[in-house]
Amino acid sequence: MLTFIWAQDEQGAIGKDNRMPWHLPADLRFFKEQTTGKTIVMGRKTYESLGKALPNRENLVLSRSRDLRLSDAEVVHEVEPILARAKTEDIFICGGAEIYRLFMPYVDRLIVTKIAATFSADTKFPEVDWSKFTETSRMENKKDEKNPYDYTFVTYVRKKPNQ
Ligand SMILES: NC(=O)c1ccc[n+]([C@@H]2O[C@H](COP(=O)([O-])OP(=O)(O)OC[C@H]3O[C@@H](n4cnc5c(N)ncnc54)[C@H](OP(=O)(O)O)[C@@H]3O)[C@@H](O)[C@H]2O)c1
Repeated sequence: MLTFIWAQDEQGAIGKDNRMPWHLPADLRFFKEQTTGKTIVMGRKTYESLGKALPNRENLVLSRSRDLRLSDAEVVHEVEPILARAKTEDIFICGGAEIYRLFMPYVDRLIVTKIAATFSADTKFPEVDWSKFTETSRMENKKDEKNPYDYTFVTYVRKKPNQ
């Protein structure tokens, strides 16, 4: 199964200056819970933003550069090997915008954290044809002393699974 996982603000913003625009520890914890033990795929810019591979997950980094070598992640140049693997295992696409756009035709499931705030941003989540997806779960959370915004975890699945 191919899953997108991301967090966005009320206007679909996901990044600014190659960073996340907010600090929301509950979302980082949720991301860790969802992806630990799985294979994650990210664009080269998101990898640079993190500065290292994420532990306890197989990290694949997409780049067009044939010279790129990473000590802690596998560099991948095409979509096809990732699509092939998604037929038999859980693959999580973790951004950024270019990589979500690249896999949009193939994604089976969307897991989004909707943050109830608006931020200055330079990167937005790409357009989704919501008519193709059904909401299957929703968990609303209130802000607290560590998490300064209300936020909701929402899952959607594609109406007709990709075969
Ligand atoms: N809010 C969230 O959940 C979330 C999640 C992830 C990232 N982000 C944010 O998103 C921003 C980064 O997103 P972005 O769209 O600028 O960059 P990105 O998607 O992380 O990475 C773009 C890079 O991916 C590679 N790439 C793109 N298309 C490719 C293809 N067809 N084949 C092979 N490689 C390909 C290229 O690397 P090369 O240039 O090396 O060829 C390209 O420069 C940051 O602000 C980050 O913090 C937010």
